[in-house]
Amino acid sequence: MTDDIIGAGLPQEIIGAALPQEIIGAALPRVEGPLKVTGHARYTADHHYPDMLVAVPVCATVAVGSVRHVDCNAARGMPGVHAILTRESIGNIARLPEKSRLKIDEKVPPLQDDEVRYYGQFVALVLADTFEQARDGARAVRVDYAAAAPDVRMAMTPDGEPEVATERGDPEAAYDGAAVQVDETWCTPIETHNPMELHATVARWEGDRLTVHETTQAVVNHRGVLAAMLQVPEERVRVVTTHLGGGFGGKLWPWTHSLLAAQAARVAGRPVKLVVTRQMMFRNVGHRTNTQQRIRLAAGADGRLVSLRHDFIHHDSRAGVSEESCGEATGYLYATPNLRVTAATCRRDLGVNTAMRGPGVVPGMFALESAMNELADRLAMDPLALRLVNDTARDESKDVPFSSRHLRECLELGAERFGWARRDPAIGAMRDGDTILGWGMASATWPGTRTKAQVSLSLHDDGTVRVRSATQDIGTGTYTVLAQMAAHETGVDIARVSVEIGDTDLPPGPTSGGSMATASLVPAVAMAARHAIRQLLDVAGRLEEGGEPRFAGGRVTPGGLAFGEVLRRAGVERVEGQGISKGSAADPRAKEVSIRSFGAHFVEVAWQPAMARLAVRRVVSVIDGGKIVNARTARNQIEGAVQMGVGMALFEETHYDARYGSPVNGNLADYLVVTHADAPAVDVTFLDYPDQALNEYGARGVGEIGLVGVAPAITAAVYHATGKRIRSLPVKIEDLL
Ligand code: MOS
Repeated sequence: MTDDIIGAGLPQEIIGAALPQEIIGAALPRVEGPLKVTGHARYTADHHYPDMLVAVPVCATVAVGSVRHVDCNAARGMPGVHAILTRESIGNIARLPEKSRLKIDEKVPPLQDDEVRYYGQFVALVLADTFEQARDGARAVRVDYAAAAPDVRMAMTPDGEPEVATERGDPEAAYDGAAVQVDETWCTPIETHNPMELHATVARWEGDRLTVHETTQAVVNHRGVLAAMLQVPEERVRVVTTHLGGGFGGKLWPWTHSLLAAQAARVAGRPVKLVVTRQMMFRNVGHRTNTQQRIRLAAGADGRLVSLRHDFIHHDSRAGVSEESCGEATGYLYATPNLRVTAATCRRDLGVNTAMRGPGVVPGMFALESAMNELADRLAMDPLALRLVNDTARDESKDVPFSSRHLRECLELGAERFGWARRDPAIGAMRDGDTILGWGMASATWPGTRTKAQVSLSLHDDGTVRVRSATQDIGTGTYTVLAQMAAHETGVDIARVSVEIGDTDLPPGPTSGGSMATASLVPAVAMAARHAIRQLLDVAGRLEEGGEPRFAGGRVTPGGLAFGEVLRRAGVERVEGQGISKGSAADPRAKEVSIRSFGAHFVEVAWQPAMARLAVRRVVSVIDGGKIVNARTARNQIEGAVQMGVGMALFEETHYDARYGSPVNGNLADYLVVTHADAPAVDVTFLDYPDQALNEYGARGVGEIGLVGVAPAITAAVYHATGKRIRSLPVKIEDLL
């Protein structure tokens, strides 16, 4: 069993056991699951070459200043140390042009100047025979800095005039004249992505050709960035990522370790492996920026919103900026004639922020949905009823209808499954013995987008189907849904379908981000299958079986021969079809509607005042994510996202030392994430309405939406249990005492 062609030869009992009538929507287990649980799946850091060197970076111990001198003398003579690369010896790594189609968040290339812009920035690189030797060598490198005091304050004021992101009507006048108002500020902290798999690069040059095994959610972009910044023609760079142990957005765009490893391999003339440590994960590969968001909203006595203003600000870095678009959902989620959203940034001496699951919308909806919950309380109105009153069939920010919006049904069905009607709204009124129960809820939303994609699909004379695309599986189920799509389009048993992804040698596929991969692949797979089948029928026509050949269920009629047999008789090894689809941004039909996913979360917290223990006990989530392609992998996405939401509400926060600008809890002992003991039971329901505006199946993708709205539902439940309004995440026990 090879691990780069997933699905080939997997036994029937693994894939085919529960083979349903309808393969699209089936709750199939992951086709690559057996490889992973048996340890056969090779992740990036599992790649070795016999003459490979291991690289360990030297990290800046100041956050602001410059490198005056790097003393390599002690390190140079140490056992196994091959080279110490500094600004003088690393060679040229170019800056990406400002207007590039390529994406990188940390715009400043590594080791190209002496400036230190954030704590932990790579200032040298030690190459040695083993990891331990390289690590010891890195510790022995002495760096002399000219340092200044860092500014890593979390409170923010805008650096320039805030930019208006979207507006309509006259929100000031409407606010001033309204019956009920809310004006509060919500804060979310810096969160650090902590996928199980560390970022890693294994780079190898063969002559002037570079192959990089990389932990990336976007092999195609990664190749482009490496080519541009290392100044190699793109066709001589290959990027491979066969399996990923999670990403959460932190692995979307290239980071400096990848450029350094690839350039070091070029300089050393040997393959180089660089694995980012868990501590470096908190400094060098992005984080979710902290946000400060003022929301002013006003409603009539009936609960109808008359004014909504959302002013947000977040950090940026001297090494680059990634926009955290907190107002993304504010303009369209609810009906209101008067609205303004503004965005601002505030520079701090921190590493570069980047997308983290549900970027923008997740912190933005924490503020917006918290404000809605506070408004409901001020109106003495059920928060569920408040959402229903403000539901809308039109996206008022674009003045177009939603292609498929079922928020109302999410809310009503979620309420029913949760038992919301039994809620006593009085603070602390609901009890289970000595435990006080708190109930809270919030809406969820996320854009439905399709990006350009290419897929090849081939039919082989051994009766197998192969589908190939340079997309990735970050653990979400891309291998499996691609196999399902190919089985559906060809009518061939999924056990005979194999999937090849995660390699730039394949047709360029979509980024695994923004919940876009599945939706993007659908049209391309469909087209590739039709193209392949047309060629098969041409081959069949030459066999003179009589009549116009047709293809169904993997067989060609007349004659009823399996397609593999047709190909064998014709002496054709395989036919290969190509599918190319454009993104929804280039689709005029998609412009006439607003394509969004929706959802609702209902949460129960348990508060034990005697021992000051707070836990989330159960969550009911109803998701309107279009047609669900795989009911199991999709449910897993929501279950995992909800747990991440519990972490966001109660645990996750990266703290920085004001003196050094360094993360102080940069490890998994001190940076708290949800453990099994913290994990609530999650009840997930998909509405499963196909959204035909996006693709043939009506699939929108479900990676991020499960996280949106969880935190505000939890803080509402905390308020219901304790009477404490927590507007700064995470909720700390001391806030509740
Ligand atoms: Mo997601 S933050 O687009 O990987």
